[in-house]
Amino acid sequence: MKNAALYPGSFDPLTNGHMDILERAALMFDKIIVTVAVNNKKTAVFSGDERVQLIREAIKGKAWEDKIEIEQFTGLLINFAREKNVQVLLRGVRQISDFEYEFRMALTNRRLAPEIDTVFLMPDEQLTFISATIVKEVAAWGGDLSSFVPDHVAKALREKYK
Ligand code: PNS
Repeated sequence: MKNAALYPGSFDPLTNGHMDILERAALMFDKIIVTVAVNNKKTAVFSGDERVQLIREAIKGKAWEDKIEIEQFTGLLINFAREKNVQVLLRGVRQISDFEYEFRMALTNRRLAPEIDTVFLMPDEQLTFISATIVKEVAAWGGDLSSFVPDHVAKALREKYK
C-alpha cells in the first residue's frame, strides 16, 4: 500500500509522546495503522482492548482521525506488516539511548523483510523524557499525570492504581 505506515508499540498506555509522533506522521502518511502489540514478553497493565480503546478516544475529533486505523497483533511485526501490505514501520526515538535498541530492531526487521523499512521520528523535545514505564511509576505513587498523558488516560491509570 502506498504512503501507509505501521506504527507499532506496546502503548501501555498511550502517552503524549505517542500522540506527538502520530500528529507528525499524519502530515506525511495517508494512512497510519497503530499496531498494539499484545502477548509480547512484557506484562501489560492494560489489556489489548483497553489500549485500543484509549488510543481511539485520544484521536477522536482530530483533523487526521480518518487516517488512523488501530489494530492488535501478536507474533512477528513484519508478518503483520506484510498481511496489511505496508512497507513502512514508524518508530519514535526520544534520545540516543533509545537508538541502540531501535537500530537493532530495524535491521533485524529489514533482514527478515528487505522490502520493509523503518522510519524514525523525534517527538517535541519537551516530551523526550516521557515513557509509558515512567508514567506508570508516577501513577503507582499517585503523582500528577496531567502533562504526560491525555486526561482520559490519566483517569484510566488512576483507576488501575487506586
Ligand atoms: O512500545 P515498545 O514496547 O517499545 O514496542 C516494541 C514492539 C512491540 C514494536 C516490538 O517488541 C515488536 O515489534 N515486537 C513483536 C516481535 C517482533 O517482530 N520483533 C521484531 C524483531 S526484533
